[in-house]
Amino acid sequence: MTQKTALITGAARGIGLATTKLMLDRGWQVAMLDRDAEELARASDGLEGAAPFVFDVSIPSDVDKAIPAILERFGRLDAVVNNAGVAEFGPIEQTDFAMWRRVMDTNLDGVFLVSQATLPALKETRGAIVNIASISGLRASTLRVAYGTSKAAVIQLTKQQAAELGEYGIRSNCVCPGPVRTKLAMAVHSQEIIDAYHDAIPLNRYGSELEIAEVIAFLCSEQASYVTGQVIASDGGFESTGVGLPALRK
Ligand SMILES: NC(=O)c1ccc[n+]([C@@H]2O[C@H](COP(=O)([O-])OP(=O)(O)OC[C@H]3O[C@@H](n4cnc5c(N)ncnc54)[C@H](O)[C@@H]3O)[C@@H](O)[C@H]2O)c1
Repeated sequence: MTQKTALITGAARGIGLATTKLMLDRGWQVAMLDRDAEELARASDGLEGAAPFVFDVSIPSDVDKAIPAILERFGRLDAVVNNAGVAEFGPIEQTDFAMWRRVMDTNLDGVFLVSQATLPALKETRGAIVNIASISGLRASTLRVAYGTSKAAVIQLTKQQAAELGEYGIRSNCVCPGPVRTKLAMAVHSQEIIDAYHDAIPLNRYGSELEIAEVIAFLCSEQASYVTGQVIASDGGFESTGVGLPALRK
C-alpha cells in the first residue's frame, strides 16, 4: 500500500482516460470512475494498476458509496482529479432549467461532492485535488450560459479549497483546457467553430488529451508541492489573447 493512488472521474474516455494512462506510466495506481459502465469496462480492460468504479458524481448517494469502495480496493488516496464533465450549449433564452441543472449537477456539484467525500483520505496523505474547469470558465462566449458558469464556479471552488485545506497539507489546483477533440467537444463544435478556434488560438490548433493530462499529472505530483490555489490554462494561448481577431494578424 505504498504506491500512490489517484482517483480520476470521467476516466472512461477523453482527457480522463489519457490522464489515467499517463499516471499509470508514472507509477501511480488509478481508480477510474465513470457513470458509463460499458465504456469504462472497455477503457479499463488490461490497464494494470487501474480499477473501474461505475458511479455518477452528481448523485450524493453514489459518491458516498464510491469512496469507501475505492479505499477498500487501494487503501489510500493521494490525488483526486475531478474531470467528469458534460457540455450542453444553447442560447440563454433556450436554456431551460432542466438543462441548467444537468450541467451544474455534474460540472459543479460533482466536484464539490467528490472533493468533500475524499477529504479524510486526502488528509492522511496530504494529497492533491485537481479540478478540471475550462477556458469557458475564464472567457465568456455565446451558448455557454450553463457550461461557462459551471466552470467559472469550479475555478472559485478550487480557490476556496486551497484556502481552507492548506492547513491539512492538501493542495487544490485547477486546469482550464482549451478545445480538445474529444467526444464532448465534437458534439458541440461544428466545422465553423473548429475553424474559428484555429484562428483565435495563438498556437493555431486544438490541444491533445495528452497535453492536458501532462499538466494534470504535474499538479498531482510532488514536483508541484508548493503550488496551490492556481488556475492553469492549457489552451494554446487562447486565454492570453485579448483581441484575437484573425483580421489583426499579419
Ligand atoms: N474537450 C474539450 O475541448 C474540453 C475543453 C475544456 C474543458 N473540458 C473539460 O474536460 C473534462 C473532460 O472532458 P472530455 O472532453 O474528456 O469529455 P468526454 O465526454 O470525452 O469524457 C467525459 C467523461 O465523463 C463521464 N461523465 C460525465 N458525467 C459524469 C457523471 N455525472 N459521473 C461520472 N462520470 C461522468 C462521461 O461518461 C465521459 O466518460 C470535462 O470536465 C470537460 O468539461 C474539455
